[in-house]
Amino acid sequence: MSRSKIQNLQSPKGMHDILPQEQMWWDKVRKEVDYIADYYNFSRIDTAILERAEIFEKSLGETTDIVEKQMFVFKSRSGDRLALRPEGTASIVRSYVQHGLSHLGQPLKLFYIGPMFRKEQPQSGRFRQFHQAGFEIIGGDDDPVYDAQLILAIYRLLERFKIKNLSLHINSIGCRNCRPVYRKKLLDYYRDLAPKLCKDCRRRMKQNPLRLLDCKNEQCQQYKASTPMILDSLCSNCNKHFKGVLEFLEELKLSYQLDHHLVRGLDYYNRTAFEFFTDSVAEDGTKFDFALAGGGRYDYLLELFGSRQSSGVGGAVGMERVIEVMRKTKINLGLRSRQKVFFIHIGDVAKKKSLSLIEELRDAGIPVLESLGKDSLAAQLRSANKENADYALIFGQKEAFEDSIIVRDLKNGVQETVPLRKVVNEVKKRFK
Ligand code: HAM
Repeated sequence: MSRSKIQNLQSPKGMHDILPQEQMWWDKVRKEVDYIADYYNFSRIDTAILERAEIFEKSLGETTDIVEKQMFVFKSRSGDRLALRPEGTASIVRSYVQHGLSHLGQPLKLFYIGPMFRKEQPQSGRFRQFHQAGFEIIGGDDDPVYDAQLILAIYRLLERFKIKNLSLHINSIGCRNCRPVYRKKLLDYYRDLAPKLCKDCRRRMKQNPLRLLDCKNEQCQQYKASTPMILDSLCSNCNKHFKGVLEFLEELKLSYQLDHHLVRGLDYYNRTAFEFFTDSVAEDGTKFDFALAGGGRYDYLLELFGSRQSSGVGGAVGMERVIEVMRKTKINLGLRSRQKVFFIHIGDVAKKKSLSLIEELRDAGIPVLESLGKDSLAAQLRSANKENADYALIFGQKEAFEDSIIVRDLKNGVQETVPLRKVVNEVKKRFK
């Protein structure tokens, strides 16, 4: 590498370039997201990557890890406090209210694909810039059929990525009537244990007790096993709603695991909370200990943003994570590599005619590679090999005068001179 005038050429910590050779995975993921969105009738929405920081602080919760530790917040020159979006839902709801989308048919089904930013400690499946494909069903009423349909759409999407051994974890975290009852029970349970808990959990006891349930710290695990179950504290409406969701899932034959510790890391959720995992194992034996997707119901978020609607449910898939699973479990994308021809010119007369000739071939639907800047045959053949081309079209001085061209099979070296007017057919005949 040449000596750079810039000292550090690394992309920022936890943020990665997506190189040309990786794009086929991303194309596949985007294609399947579009397919599912279309199938279930979700319309695309794109919001700004920057939001006023307050949008997230108020909705995700001031005491959540994301807001407290992970947001990239800065002041613009004009003094606005802006944040790189750490997730999509708050922005979508902000946009829904700002643009009066509640006037469109309800519920409104929206989807998005794009980068999110969280200042986390990078590790496998955890980045500072990552991409989500998210689906939201906003408005209408809080019918459990929407929770089930949303979960189904995400399940079908993961299935289309050919990810095996999927497991759906689900819980209900109640509403503002029943959650305080549970919070009290939980605090009663933990009260005497406080000195034995990690520092974060001692803080959670004061600020956000539900989050005690998803502490990953080893010293806290043993106490989690016997915590009271939130499902035992649900009010009758939440209970009915959760039963409704589970019945729809059963009807769909979508198996699930009740996960009493699943509370999700964002304050805007109520009732349904879910996450998808895979028990597949990478070829090198490592397990994937991260959620591929997560979501839930967020009725209060609509209210917080002043919407006339008061129902929302959604979920998002982590694109880097699904791609990691697809790659490491050697999922076959089923992409047939396209057959390619490489155009080679020799001499000035041929070079002059080459641009328009290549254009004609492309118009006829033939994918053509070339390196027109190179003049020697050997250099152009080397490029053709590098590109793994199947055929070379060799257009030399003689061919240019005779209106012909050589079609050479680069795998076996067999070649034939054909009239220029027939070259499209000749190439198509060779493509299987
Ligand atoms: P979340 O669980 O924070 O939910 O993120 C959703 C998914 O994004 C996760 O399951 C994971 O696959 C991926 N993800 C999260 N953080 C990272 C990271 N640091 N690196 C790589 N991937 C990551 C939400 O963001 C909610 N907005 C989902 C939602 C939509 N709820 C309702 N609607």
